[in-house]
Order: sequence, then C-alpha cells, then structure tokens
Amino acid sequence: MAAFHPGNGTIERLGRMLGEAERIVAFTGAGISTESGIPDFRSPGGIWTRMEPITFQKFMASEEARLEDWQRRFTMNEVYGEAEPNIAHRALAHLVAEGHAQGIVTQNIDGLHARAGVPADKLVELHGNATYAHCLSCRQRFELEEMRAAITREGSSPRCACGGFVKSAIVSFGEAMPEAEMLRAYRLAEECDLMLVLGSSLLVEPAASVPRVAKRAGARLVILNREATPLHGLADLALEGEIGAMLAQIFPHLADQEH
Ligand code: APR
Repeated sequence: MAAFHPGNGTIERLGRMLGEAERIVAFTGAGISTESGIPDFRSPGGIWTRMEPITFQKFMASEEARLEDWQRRFTMNEVYGEAEPNIAHRALAHLVAEGHAQGIVTQNIDGLHARAGVPADKLVELHGNATYAHCLSCRQRFELEEMRAAITREGSSPRCACGGFVKSAIVSFGEAMPEAEMLRAYRLAEECDLMLVLGSSLLVEPAASVPRVAKRAGARLVILNREATPLHGLADLALEGEIGAMLAQIFPHLADQEH
C-alpha cells in the first residue's frame, strides 16, 4: 500500500483499524521518545550523527572503549531520568491495560514504557535496559551508581568477582540478542492481528524482522513514522508525521496530561 499523509481521512482509518483489532502488538523505536526530549539515532542531530557506536567487540578489546561506554551510559541515564512518558507511551499503556494490546516490543532502552505503566510481562525489551548493569560472564546484576563510584575510585572499568567485565544491560552492536526476548517478540508477532509500528527506521536486524513476521502470519501492519521505512511497501496503512499529533487525534483524553 502507498504511504498516506494524515488529513485525507487516514486518521479515521487508523482509529477504525485499532477499533477492529482484537490483539494489537506495538513495536516501538526511538522515534516514540523524541517528544519526551530523548534524541533518536538516525534523524538529523540523532546520536549516530554525533558519535560512532561502541561495538561489543571494541568494548571487550579496549579499556578506553569500556570507559567511554560507561560515560555515555551515565550521560544518557541523566537524560532518561529527566524525561517523562509522552502521549504515545500513555496510549500504548492504555491499550495494554484495557486488554486491547497483548504486548509491546520495544527497541528502546529508556524505560519509558515501564514508567507509563506497562507491566514487565507485557513488555519485551529487545535491546536490553539501560537502568542497570550486569556481568558479561555470570550475568550478576550491578547498579549503575555502584559502578560509577567504582570507576571514580579505581580509575578503571569495573570487573565482577568472577573476573568478567561488567557492562550496561543494553545490547550493543555485535552483541548477541537476548534469545528469550526474541522468542517472546516472535510469539507476540505471530499471534497478533494488528502490528502497530511507532517511531522506528526499521533498519536494524533482527529487531526489524518482528513486524515482518506479524505481516507474514496474517496480521495487518500499520506504521506511524516521520519518514518512510523499508516496510512501508508491506504496510496496510502508513502515516507519515509526528506520532504525538497523530495519536492525540485518536486518544484526545490522553493528550491533556502533558506536565
Ligand atoms: N514522530 C514520528 N516519527 C519520529 C519522531 C516523531 N516525533 N521522532 C523520530 N521519528 C522517526 C525518525 O524519522 C526515524 O525514522 O523515528 C525513527 C527513529 O529511527 P532511529 O533513530 O533509527 O531509531 P530506531 O529505529 O529505534 O533504531 C533502532 O538502532 O542504534 C540502534 O539499538 C539502537 O534500538 C536502536 C536501533
């Protein structure tokens, strides 16, 4: 289907498709959090336009890369701490709470879906979670503030008692995807009747395969994004524009909760 620009009755169509669906699954990317003040990755001014990703291999090979990775985590966690869920997070939490959505599969690590009230058993964090750290060998959990203090004290990147490197619990480029989370995501995709993609460039695999699995399993595919994506050709409805403005027309009662 061609992409539609909102305004020619397509918001009504979106509302109708959401109303007709019985088992919605949402798939979200960084574009759902930009209206909360968190930069995305590939838009002009996005994170990858300002710095190179630190790959998992580089993290393992270089103390300098590990210390840089930790600094980035501490800086971004301050940004996350100042951010609030926006209408898009609230709308999805509302769909989950009323049993209209079976779950949310997110690539985001900012924790805003959870803060909007989505319970852990309805949330699949494909790229991990930036709010804590773990040992890469034994998976013991560590708190970020504890790691920041250790780095300040030792001047070196933290190691676990078992000898493993400690790293933020996010999935870096080149790092193995969390198998259990991928399986949960594929199961949700296979069982849904509408896959609602919000704010992702759909350029990163295997995450971007989740909406494709849903479409192939017979679900309708709806994409809300500022720009076209590689899956627009598969979409039953694709709206290009600001996610907040589009969802405010569908969920007006959620729009006026801006702080
Ligand atoms: N409304 C609509 N679309 C938006 C908005 C908005 N307010 N803000 C940003 N977007 C769109 C951008 O146009 C872009 O297409 O959201 C998309 C965000 O794409 P990316 O920056 O590539 O983020 P994402 O798709 O989540 O990246 C996937 O890549 O770097 C890795 O692990 C990282 O999880 C991330 C993954």
